[in-house]
Amino acid sequence: GNPESFYQAVGGEQTFRGIVSRFYAEVAKDEVLRPLYPEQDLGPAEERLLLFLMQYWGGPHTYSERRGHPRLRMRHAPFQIGPIERDAWLRCMRVAVDEAPLTEEQRQQLWQYLEMAAHSLMNSWG
Ligand code: HEM
Repeated sequence: GNPESFYQAVGGEQTFRGIVSRFYAEVAKDEVLRPLYPEQDLGPAEERLLLFLMQYWGGPHTYSERRGHPRLRMRHAPFQIGPIERDAWLRCMRVAVDEAPLTEEQRQQLWQYLEMAAHSLMNSWG
């Protein structure tokens, strides 16, 4: 990866793994989100989010090697994502980001992106 990337600055894969693993521990307990995940085992979904975030922040491009272009709006189209789902997703992610070993500036930068991304993936307003 690029040595000046956010990915490297926060400690690379280990830090992202910690965040995504904490996030999915929350998802597993969340009554809004858990039913949306079609697979019984959340492990594969966890791996996809991990690889996507690593790539987005300047780490290895393993996500695109395996999955192609992210096309996140298209890939979320099968799930109804309204304000309730978005807020549940952000609540789980907030726990994970708060516990991550980041500087306050890094935490803010990451959070700002995740909040924007979660808003942009909404596809239901009824
Ligand atoms: C996949 C829900 C926001 C990134 C999924 C899946 C669900 C889901 C149910 C399918 C699980 C799987 O991979 O098999 C949601 C909900 C969100 C949300 C309810 C609330 C807004 C986000 C955000 C990001 C993201 C903000 C990125 C910053 C991904 C990625 C995948 C995924 C990378 C796997 C795509 C693939 O390669 O197939 N999401 N998601 N999601 N989500 Fe989300």
